[in-house]
Amino acid sequence: MGQDTPDPGVGTVTVRRGLPAGTEQRAAELYWTAFGRKLGPALNPPDKAVPFIAAHLNADRAVCALLDGQLVGLAGYRQGGRGLTGGSARAVLRAYGHLRGLHRLLLLGLFERRPGPGELLMDGIAVSPGLRGRGVGSLLIEEVTAVAAERGFREIRLDVIDTNPRARALYERLGFTAVRTEQTPYLRGLLGFGAVTAMRRPVATGAAAER
Ligand SMILES: CC(C)(COP(=O)(O)OP(=O)(O)OC[C@H]1O[C@@H](n2cnc3c(N)ncnc32)[C@H](O)[C@@H]1OP(=O)(O)O)[C@@H](O)C(=O)NCCC(=O)NCCS
Repeated sequence: MGQDTPDPGVGTVTVRRGLPAGTEQRAAELYWTAFGRKLGPALNPPDKAVPFIAAHLNADRAVCALLDGQLVGLAGYRQGGRGLTGGSARAVLRAYGHLRGLHRLLLLGLFERRPGPGELLMDGIAVSPGLRGRGVGSLLIEEVTAVAAERGFREIRLDVIDTNPRARALYERLGFTAVRTEQTPYLRGLLGFGAVTAMRRPVATGAAAER
């Protein structure tokens, strides 16, 4: 299942559910390109972080965009306690060592979010830098919305940081509205942002939310 968009400049981008086998490394690279600044203190160095992310991706919690068979974008979501990026506490400690892993677990804990009733929580969206601004991110969000509608969710939620006004502008254009902003000045030095805004978009479905 998916949708296509012809773009004379770049060929045809196809949006799909899940991540095709063999794209895990590329998916992790894209994810890291988008979120490395935020996740760096928890998962650096990059040559350790990217393989860690690749090894613990939940492919069934993604929609993706392919151009000529190459992964050029992905968007994750959480359902049933699993999101796009996985990796248990034990896996973090195994990869980074017990002593060095502990503070990483604390940092990763800062990013944990729980969906409210009827909410499909998005778990990151990233488009290949060379293809941004051509509508791929919008297609990915529409596909996540379709997933949410089919599964009976009432709304989609995502979090955007204060240092990413362009992403926020895109979400607003697509019908997301801000519901609350958490000020996190203590994270500015370490993670680069000082506030996180939760945004939501209603999903057109009459069905009761799953779970
Ligand atoms: C945000 C992102 C997923 C949007 O995908 P996209 O394919 O560029 O989106 P679209 O082409 O559908 O929409 C374009 C809009 O996205 C936003 N956008 C474009 N480039 C962006 C960038 N580098 N960073 C953040 N937002 C960007 C802008 O609002 C843009 O509209 P504009 O050209 O009028 O300014 C993509 O730009 C990206 O991967 N950015 C870096 C990672 C990121 O910020 N993820 C979101 C975290 S909440």
